[in-house]
Amino acid sequence: MSHDLFLAAKAAMKNAHAPYSKFPVGAAIRTTDGRIFSGCNVEIASYPEGWCAETTALGHYVTGGGGEIAEIAVIAERMAKVTPCGGCRQRLAEFAPAEAKVYLCDDAGVVGTVTMGELLPYGFKGGILKK
Ligand code: THU
Repeated sequence: MSHDLFLAAKAAMKNAHAPYSKFPVGAAIRTTDGRIFSGCNVEIASYPEGWCAETTALGHYVTGGGGEIAEIAVIAERMAKVTPCGGCRQRLAEFAPAEAKVYLCDDAGVVGTVTMGELLPYGFKGGILKK
């Protein structure tokens, strides 16, 4: 992974709206054709209605036209190697193949790498719903 995906996730984290948890998170998605889509978590006073950084990044990715996902970076200000929550794993798996890399970061850069398949083994596949 080149450093720019990490930097995009970190820059997104700086814009997190996390006044309740004080747990800013950033995520960035790179498509195989080189486009980067980033996002931060957004919390609101009705706590369950907030959403994760990965979800924001996915919204930008879909809005930007989608495409094949090659790699994803995730960073949290207060936790090294933060991993996507269960709901975000399912959302990411809707678009990212099992072999897509997920980079776990700390403040300085990437400190761990897993694949989507490792994060969500036996995940629900929606193929049958399209028939
Ligand atoms: N959060 C994310 O944005 N991504 C993750 O991978 C884990 C959790 C957010 C949700 C909430 O705003 C805050 O972190 C604390 O759970």
